[in-house]
Amino acid sequence: MARTTTNILAILAICATILFISPTTSNAQDKNLLFVFGDSLYDGGMTLYNGVEGAGAEFWPYGENYFKRPAGRYTDGRVIPDFLAQYAGLPFLRPYLLPGLNDYTQGINFASASACVLVETRPGTINLARQMDYFVEMAWKLRNRIGELETNKLLSKAVYLFNIGGNDLFSLFETNRGGFPLNPYMKKDYVNQILGNLTSHIYTIYNQGGRKFAFQNIGPLGCMPSMKFMLQYQGSCVEEPVELAKMYNAAFSALVNRLQTRLPGFKYTIYDFHTSLHIRVLNGGRYGFKESEIACCGSGPFNGGFSCQKKGNSFTVCSNPADYLWFDAGHTTDRGNEQFASEFWLGGPNVVAPYNLQSFLAMS
Ligand SMILES: *[C@@H]1O[C@H](CO)[C@@H](O)[C@H](O)[C@H]1NC(C)=O
Repeated sequence: MARTTTNILAILAICATILFISPTTSNAQDKNLLFVFGDSLYDGGMTLYNGVEGAGAEFWPYGENYFKRPAGRYTDGRVIPDFLAQYAGLPFLRPYLLPGLNDYTQGINFASASACVLVETRPGTINLARQMDYFVEMAWKLRNRIGELETNKLLSKAVYLFNIGGNDLFSLFETNRGGFPLNPYMKKDYVNQILGNLTSHIYTIYNQGGRKFAFQNIGPLGCMPSMKFMLQYQGSCVEEPVELAKMYNAAFSALVNRLQTRLPGFKYTIYDFHTSLHIRVLNGGRYGFKESEIACCGSGPFNGGFSCQKKGNSFTVCSNPADYLWFDAGHTTDRGNEQFASEFWLGGPNVVAPYNLQSFLAMS
């Protein structure tokens, strides 16, 4: 009897040791993963490796609040995918270009600052097409390492989380300065080009076995301090960029709804970031923000000049970012991101539909 107990204990000890030695791969089969695509709102450090020196988030005061150092995030702390990974019990998603990275079984973040859907809009950035190339490369490496069967299982249960298109729309207002309102046919055609290209990228993931897509819709671009600065607007939100984002969001949700009827097994959910950000700009106090229009860090009216991130530029930075909705001219604070992420993760159908991310991620 005693001897059996000893043996069992010995076996348990060996098992425990094995579990301890392989903590990085033990999680692969039992937790559904997140693969993240998008722009600076979701950038989790790719910006450190995108080859553009001085892009911003590698300098103080970015990261000052949570990481206590610049962490390649365009905020004082965490970006939305950081919170979502924490809620899901996953480690912070590592940027695909992290040197030496070769374990893809914890999820990956491909998002990179300035990314657009249309490749010619901001040349030299890691646009969505490049992010797709990286994803296909990753899937190929994964098949080599853990085999076809395991890879297929992992990819089909994972959630593909997107925040993209905001820079595409924003750029219309950069290049057409002075010529407002924009031609409605041009706007419609432009939106269709974005959606056409985005569709082909969704197919890329689908063809690799991806089935579950979660999208954050495009925010009220006219409320960004940078937009107001650029268009020399004094009020809370410039109407035309807000309306363009709304039109895009409506066309986008119609598109993914059509995809669901066309592609067997395709599932999606959309977080209404647009409305959530808009109401916080207009009623910051109700959500705990003392300041919801002026950015914590930057220069000029509303601190809307993007000087916070530029080496050698002069700028001011607030002493308590948690009082602010905007950290810089185009990005919300850690505090704001936490509110958005918790709505995305646990919110009801009025903010995230048809599923919140918690139940969507758990689906097989
Ligand atoms: C993708 O965008 C380009 C412009 O960047 C456009 O010419 C092309 O038609 C778009 N493709 C689709 C499938 O919509």
